[in-house]
Amino acid sequence: MLTLLKLLKDGRFHSGEALGAALGVSRSAVWKQLQHLEAELNLPIHKVRGRGYQLASPLVFLNAEEIASNAASLAWPVHIFDSIDSTNAEALRLVDANCAAPFLVLAEQQTAGRGRRGRKWVSPFAQNVYYSLVLRIEGGLRQLEGLSLVVGLAVMQALRKSGVQDAALKWPNDVLVGRKKIAGILLELVGDPADICHVVLGIGINVNMQKATDVDQQWTSVQLETGSPVDRNRLVAQLGLQLQGYLDLHKASGFAALQEEWEQNHLWQGKAVSLIAGVNQIDGVVLGIDRQGALRLNVDGVEKIYSGGELSLRLRDDS
Ligand code: BTN
Repeated sequence: MLTLLKLLKDGRFHSGEALGAALGVSRSAVWKQLQHLEAELNLPIHKVRGRGYQLASPLVFLNAEEIASNAASLAWPVHIFDSIDSTNAEALRLVDANCAAPFLVLAEQQTAGRGRRGRKWVSPFAQNVYYSLVLRIEGGLRQLEGLSLVVGLAVMQALRKSGVQDAALKWPNDVLVGRKKIAGILLELVGDPADICHVVLGIGINVNMQKATDVDQQWTSVQLETGSPVDRNRLVAQLGLQLQGYLDLHKASGFAALQEEWEQNHLWQGKAVSLIAGVNQIDGVVLGIDRQGALRLNVDGVEKIYSGGELSLRLRDDS
């Protein structure tokens, strides 16, 4: 089915006869495959008598050479999948199979994309970026301190370079435009965090997505913000360059070197928020973050520090 899609990706008309000849199947088999494409990948296809079939809009697939040509200094091996359950899950399987880190896993589609706090990450075909970079960490806990916030900075800068000037951060690691989410980050770790471990930096960016009925929060995409479709290979290259720069700085100087930059880009700095921890809610005002990336809240006049992957922030209506 994906071979057929690759024949149609240019957005031009192709006759059923030509498509059948290229695939070595009958015209009616082509027709059946096209129906599956529309239904399973949610890709509208125009059918015009006498002209053939045409994708409603052309597709640019992820391509390792294209990515490399836009980021020559990056030497991470790239594994690209047409469809996978989750790039984070695949990255963890590759670690288990002794694949040497660093390496990158990308996919056109995720069938079980994972979000924070057990949520799903909606991952339609060939529209967005689903990105998992695996690092081997040998420096113990210091190299993990604030790491997810560092990734947030890199994602935010890559989005700004792609024209989304208003991209900003929400603790701990959401990237928002106003109140709408444009990217999410999920770190997963295997091994001994105090000694040698592998960490998967999982990043989902809404790129060319324009409609999605099953996203359970306010969202936007690069195309919705900039008004034009974005070349995902360039965005992936830009993201790699930003990650490399920020990760090098973090490794050399620790999170403290990035604390101020992070706070300057925190959308909810000084805002009245509720911190949700399971069934508990703590109301306070955001003071900033500490040298490890933990949240500093003023709660009833007292500064308190919070950290942990299961926490999430909400803006209070009175802010
Ligand atoms: C969040 O809930 O904000 C985090 C979303 C992280 C989604 C990305 S997409 C690539 C990688 N693979 C996954 O299954 N999840 C992360």
